Amino acid sequence: MMNTQEQLKKAVGEKAATFVKDGMKVGLGSGSTVYWLVRALGERIEQEGIQIEGIPSSIQTGAWAKEFGVPLTNFAETKELDVTIDGSDEVDPDFQLIKGGGAALFREKIIAQAAEKLIIIVDESKMVDHLGAYALPVEILPFAWERTAHEIEKLDCVPVLRLKDGEPLVTDNGNYIVDCPFERIEDPADLDRKIQAIAGVVETGLFIDMADTVIIGSSEGVTIKD
Ligand code: 5RP
Repeated sequence: MMNTQEQLKKAVGEKAATFVKDGMKVGLGSGSTVYWLVRALGERIEQEGIQIEGIPSSIQTGAWAKEFGVPLTNFAETKELDVTIDGSDEVDPDFQLIKGGGAALFREKIIAQAAEKLIIIVDESKMVDHLGAYALPVEILPFAWERTAHEIEKLDCVPVLRLKDGEPLVTDNGNYIVDCPFERIEDPADLDRKIQAIAGVVETGLFIDMADTVIIGSSEGVTIKD
């Protein structure tokens, strides 16, 4: 049986799938909430015959698209997307986001930037007053990663190299992730600029002024904010 949080993820994933119209090119985010989105899109393709093409933000999402029959394209074929739908780790009242819990932030930012509209799907636990309680994921090059982490540390946090099975986790792009516990981020745009300026940083998990709509699942039901 599904637990409540999983039911909320399913509800928002299915709701988001209704925003996708026939003929659209769709950016497919990553994570356990996006799983339900991809599944629901597969069902709409099968039952309603809508024709869409997706670009996945991770190898895992690409595998789900294959499993559920969602056709894929790529940026060699398509430069612009109609909509991108993705999860998030934190969402503040201005729709600024922390993403990257699943280590897919770089490709997620590419598909977010490519889309006319970015829809974020979350359960209510992700809604926060201030970003930062969730340690900010930053993708960095493996080369001299200790040096890059040292520069990030000067911004007032102690970055932690993300590990998998005791080894540095390697992203789909061949890079590392450091998780940066800032605790409370007063000015997300300023922090993003400062981290981006450090050599060795590939991308940050701060998504500034990108989200247009947030679909939130709670015990009360599904709420759409935009
Ligand atoms: C992956 C992400 C995910 O969207 C984020 O971690 C939310 O995941 P979930 O839906 O599993 O809670 O940014 O890099």
